[in-house]
Amino acid sequence: MSSLPSSSPDFSSTPEGVPARSPLHAPAPHESGLRHTSGEAIYVDDMPEPRGLLTGHLVTSPHAHARLLRVDATKARALPGVVAVLVAGDIPGHNQVGPVIQDEPLMAEGEVHFVGQTVALVLAEGASIARRAAALVEVEYEPLPALLSVKAAVEAGAFLSEPHVIRRGAPEDALAAAPVRLSGECMTGAQDHFYLETQVTLAVPGEDGSVHLWCSTQHPTEVQTLVAEVLGTGRHQVVVEVPRMGGGFGGKETQAAPFACLAALGARVTGRPVKVWLNRDEDMARTGKRHPFLGRYDAGFDETGRLLALKVELVSDGGWSTDLSRAILDRALFHLDNAYFVPALEFTGRVARTNLPSNTAFRGFGGPQGMFVMEEVLNHAAERLGLDPASVRERNYYRDTPNDLTPYGQAVVGNRLPRLHAELMASSDYARRRAEIEAFNASSRWTKRGIGFQPVKFGISFTTGFLNQAGALVSVFTDGSVQLNHGGTEMGQGLHTKMRAVCAHELGVLPERVRVMHTATDKVPNTSATAASSGSDLNGQAVKQACEVIRERLRPVAARLLKLESPGDMAAIAFSGGQVFHAARPLRTVRFAEVVHAAYLDRVSLSATGYYATPDITYDRSTGRGKPFHYYAFCAAVVELEVSGLTGEHRVRRVDVLQDVGTSLVPSIDRGQVEGGFIQGLGWLTSEEVLFDAKGRLVTHSPDTYKIPAVGDAPEDFRVHLLEHAPQDNTIHGSKAVGEPPFMLALGAVTALRQAIAAFGPPRTPVSLASPATPEAILRAVAAARAAS
Ligand code: MTE
Ligand code: HPA
Repeated sequence: MSSLPSSSPDFSSTPEGVPARSPLHAPAPHESGLRHTSGEAIYVDDMPEPRGLLTGHLVTSPHAHARLLRVDATKARALPGVVAVLVAGDIPGHNQVGPVIQDEPLMAEGEVHFVGQTVALVLAEGASIARRAAALVEVEYEPLPALLSVKAAVEAGAFLSEPHVIRRGAPEDALAAAPVRLSGECMTGAQDHFYLETQVTLAVPGEDGSVHLWCSTQHPTEVQTLVAEVLGTGRHQVVVEVPRMGGGFGGKETQAAPFACLAALGARVTGRPVKVWLNRDEDMARTGKRHPFLGRYDAGFDETGRLLALKVELVSDGGWSTDLSRAILDRALFHLDNAYFVPALEFTGRVARTNLPSNTAFRGFGGPQGMFVMEEVLNHAAERLGLDPASVRERNYYRDTPNDLTPYGQAVVGNRLPRLHAELMASSDYARRRAEIEAFNASSRWTKRGIGFQPVKFGISFTTGFLNQAGALVSVFTDGSVQLNHGGTEMGQGLHTKMRAVCAHELGVLPERVRVMHTATDKVPNTSATAASSGSDLNGQAVKQACEVIRERLRPVAARLLKLESPGDMAAIAFSGGQVFHAARPLRTVRFAEVVHAAYLDRVSLSATGYYATPDITYDRSTGRGKPFHYYAFCAAVVELEVSGLTGEHRVRRVDVLQDVGTSLVPSIDRGQVEGGFIQGLGWLTSEEVLFDAKGRLVTHSPDTYKIPAVGDAPEDFRVHLLEHAPQDNTIHGSKAVGEPPFMLALGAVTALRQAIAAFGPPRTPVSLASPATPEAILRAVAAARAAS
């Protein structure tokens, strides 16, 4: 028993009822932030190399589509230092790594379907020998016609999915009766994930055909599953461990797996450790990107800008294989409405098949592409009707819960859009600045300004229902320190920092006493990808549950040490700041470590698993109806920028964001997510252009030709605020997901650009602006606006 320590803990409560010593709801640095910046953080490629390590290097297709006639590795195998060259026929199990649909061979057989497809794997002593050997592998191809764009695929009838249709009311009649009718077509571009750490796996063979992989993946369980299938073994023989990722952004949800399988295959065949690592150019050329989408719309409005009916057809470019394209298309359809109620509608979507890398998950997962179309429709209407685009948006918000249902029939419960709109309009001084911008534009010849207001509503949950589950394993040691394992992966988003805060809070220990372990399939099995922004929601609940089990086991021990006699006292025992005490008598404490040690001597188990499955979510694809989301995240932004009519360049002058994160688990982490998400969205919409040549070869395969936003592209004045006093029901400590929603706030930049571009022409100039709005695209739009006068 200890008396109160000299720096006595503060057990007063915050408004949410959490003792002040809790790390929850308080700003904290990222748990690896110092190591990230000092360079001491260890990524897969930084791990000490095991003895006998081989480099795995890939021989890939130079053709977008071709028959594979012959692979001859005789010369490569003869090169000193080459240990093996493997082709599809050397795979002991299935030559198949499709994550959902079995349409993705690990190594090509019969045909190749995109430039960069793996044909053979060279295993050699070091990278330079492996590269030289790869060049000696002779492959004979017979080129075949290739589909290199969505439109070409649609014309050829090449699809990877059946149409998915969501319909309500009689949109044809409503369109025919609408006072204002608009139609159009728009195309959004691809986006490279540009994670700083490229794809990498180290595979080390173990006893009895087992293999241990250190892999940079968002989905260790899927890597485990596919490695086991490729090797023809049980999943129990495979352990996948993720130290941390240097960014994922969706690009390592499915697409780490093929490279991991190749490393595992090499390790199995040679009996030696194998590392497969892609350099930047290889990574960009071989991995899929954000799906480009083609959208066609037919919309009916009244004269006040109220949307009466909308028909939209979406076609995404899936690339050569299905990957997650169907779920991504579903999410695009679910987010076509964004923040707005559409009385009569028909939304149709389909995935096209092209001979390009297989497009994949990317922050927003189709949501940004769907919303882009709706925002285009509203901008088009505002320009046609001569209305402020912000007021057109406000007029169309979901308002009447539960009658204003989403197109798929879910009620927008807890709708914070009207509140966000009012608060941000006021705090950003939108009306005054818009008037000032109009005055500026009237007097400035070569530069024009624009301001855009962007609301976002984003559904939180995996739309594939069964993925909404998570597990955790908490181990307390007899000195009171804790190891925390949970099913989520850390990719820089701060999940581990949040999970550590949840765990420290539940056990009432200091966060420094909790070590978050590498994510590993032998600690927490059968996990979902860390994706859909739901890492904290799902794993947080599982961590909480595991800690609760341990806390309940410790209560009787603590009661004994605290000499509490009445049975009612047991429930009043509090755990906080490393101390255990009766909540009403906080001056008498016992150290957590003492309780734990006593529990061990009493033979009480000090480790527990936790599990969580999101309740009440369903969706029926055949009817297009259901409740796919646990709740919605909301946010809004005001974006002001200035365009040069001479160069087409623009500067983002000021951005104001108001983000609804419920009661933030760790506000400093959430703020970082909002800033990063917004900037990444800005990159997608204004500077990152993915281009392939006429042979299907990626032209923009390195940072000298592909432009992600740099520090100089950040808004000159960036004001990010988290919505206050906004706890969310039925989530981990009242918090809400944050990873993806702010990405879509950058759509406000398109509205602002359109206003600036229109100002180069006469009033009500129609604007036609391609996406991404690169300087070239802006110059073309400015020229068209000028021509209108
Ligand atoms: N932030 C960083 N720094 N790095 C990333 O790779 N990925 C984003 C987002 N924020 C990402 C990130 C994506 S695509 C998602 S879905 C979420 O983080 C995933 O993490 P969460 O579920 O823990 O929010
Ligand atoms: N979001 C993100 N990733 C996913 C999803 C989703 O809805 N479904 C499968 N992977």
